[in-house]
Amino acid sequence: MGKQINFYIDAETEKCIITRLRTAGCVFAEDEARLLISEAQTLGILADMVERRAAGFPLEHIIGWADFCGIRIAVEPGVFIPRRRTEFLVQQAAYLAMPGDIIVDLCCGTGAVGAALAAVLGWIELYAVDIDPTSVRCARRNINGVSGNVYEGDLYHPLPTKLRGCVHILVANAPYVPTEAIKLLPQEARKYEVRVALDGGAEGLDVQRRVAAEALSWLAPGGHLLVETSQRQALQTVEIFAQNGLIPQVTNCDELDATVVIGTRPFL
Ligand SMILES: C[S@@+](CC[C@H](N)C(=O)[O-])C[C@H]1O[C@@H](n2cnc3c(N)ncnc32)[C@H](O)[C@@H]1O
Repeated sequence: MGKQINFYIDAETEKCIITRLRTAGCVFAEDEARLLISEAQTLGILADMVERRAAGFPLEHIIGWADFCGIRIAVEPGVFIPRRRTEFLVQQAAYLAMPGDIIVDLCCGTGAVGAALAAVLGWIELYAVDIDPTSVRCARRNINGVSGNVYEGDLYHPLPTKLRGCVHILVANAPYVPTEAIKLLPQEARKYEVRVALDGGAEGLDVQRRVAAEALSWLAPGGHLLVETSQRQALQTVEIFAQNGLIPQVTNCDELDATVVIGTRPFL
């Protein structure tokens, strides 16, 4: 059912909203104002949305969704908002995957990566895991439509054991910000996204290390682990993959400022 709009905003009011947002530091004040107006159901709700945005609350948490790979992904306050750069992880995984593949999305957050892969590939057998209960709730909403399975827990722990040795594609946008660098992140991430979504430990590699350590036993021969990382960390990720028996390869996308390391399980 479409949203019922029971108020009218004249040009003067829209201008005031834009000015309020711009003064608060919103770079895309016009676009954001239009979006807030189109999402609010009443004038009271709109006023509240504008004030929360002006106070620095992330736009996506206010409207309740984010655009990712052209799909509307439900996001609740606190969860990691899917980033544009992660669309490169989806592209790389989609390139290596086939319809019908068993795909695991570890550290799935809102389930954006798995949902986008399902949209691109058509039917896939999708399993997604996250440790944060709110993210799991969002992922269930986002992945429900593509009949995926979402589990709450630590990395591989909640996955059905029947998947061992059978996974074709294992994607993980695990937290990779070094603990000390968290204070340098924009306020929207630092203040409004759960810490467990960002903090990758001293070098930013703690969770990646744990993902890589068990990957070989879950991947099918010839299967791939794909991890988003930063250009700076990519060589360390490559080493970690190689130490764990995966054949590593680095891929970059300048346009999205994205780096993905792919590790392939050898056939023999
Ligand atoms: C950088 S966010 C990425 C979320 C999502 N994959 C995306 O790209 O939008 C990292 C996610 O990893 C989850 N996470 C952190 N440690 C985890 C663990 N040990 N087991 C499962 N999930 C974990 C966080 O809750 C968060 O949702």
